[in-house]
Amino acid sequence: MTKKQNLSHHGVEDRNNNRKFANTTLELLSERASCRAFSSKKISNKVMDDILLAGTKAPTGGNLQPYSIIRIRDAETKKNLAGLCGQSFIAEAPVNLLFCIDWRRLERWASLEKAPFSAHRSFRHFWISFQDTIISAQNICTAIDSMGLGSVYIGTILDYFLKLKKLFKLPKLVFPVVLLCVGYPKAKPVPRKKLGIDVIVHDEEYRELDDLTLLNAFGRKYEGQKISASDENIKKFYRTCKNAEGKRFADECVKNIREKGYISPVQRYFGLHYRADEMPRGNENYLRVIKKFGFNWFEDMHK
Ligand SMILES: Cc1cc2nc3c(=O)[nH]c(=O)nc-3n(C[C@H](O)[C@H](O)[C@H](O)COP(=O)(O)O)c2cc1C
Repeated sequence: MTKKQNLSHHGVEDRNNNRKFANTTLELLSERASCRAFSSKKISNKVMDDILLAGTKAPTGGNLQPYSIIRIRDAETKKNLAGLCGQSFIAEAPVNLLFCIDWRRLERWASLEKAPFSAHRSFRHFWISFQDTIISAQNICTAIDSMGLGSVYIGTILDYFLKLKKLFKLPKLVFPVVLLCVGYPKAKPVPRKKLGIDVIVHDEEYRELDDLTLLNAFGRKYEGQKISASDENIKKFYRTCKNAEGKRFADECVKNIREKGYISPVQRYFGLHYRADEMPRGNENYLRVIKKFGFNWFEDMHK
């Protein structure tokens, strides 16, 4: 291991470092964790407004704010969303926030004041508005934590874009990005281990970790998370490997599992959970869906 790769916490930040924080904001950010169990305590309008205000103050390209937030409190709608996403706590959270890219408001402003408008044909502007939307969402998450509430993002809405369009009457150029469940936590969620600054931050230029350092960092992050090498798991895992990279690779991977006697976290991630053979599927469908929202930058590519 080179001097630079001598990771202070073996590449992982966890709560055992007894770090002293310079201020409460740093402490709040360091102690944050997703919350998936909400109490029935209502969120007052004042608290909710304070939280939402933080979302409108976020940095945004050109200060355009090309996003909207749909506040969802209706029990039936929340139940509907929970069913769609297969995550029951969505219905239990008193409030759900749907963060959407919104070029519609700016298009209308341009039209009303006789200005040209073509942001919906620009990948650059789609990309930036996506970032704007997420940054606003994250400001809101921090505000939520600061008020003693909790939240969790729901990304799986991306399989139901068109249903959401109908459910929330989204006009063209308003595109859902992420859902956030908000409420008072039943119990304080425990922060998860993260790769530390020694792994994540590169000084001046990108630096590849050596294999051992990399393995140790992930090993510490996912310590104790081995999966049983049951026949059923191995069969599923083998099928993924074979579909993704062929029989020879699949044989090698399964040999590795049998020698170790367990399925490692990365084998679970890409072999069983976010399956490597399924990941690249459906790209064309997403482009078709994005087009239905009025964005057609990918059709202007050759112009
Ligand atoms: C874009 C995005 C999508 C996510 N989607 C889901 C989701 O659908 N369901 C869920 O339970 N958690 C979801 N999460 C939360 C992550 O699982 C969570 O942030 C991660 O496991 C790290 O845990 P922590 O937030 O407690 O640090 C999502 C997070 C992000 C940033």
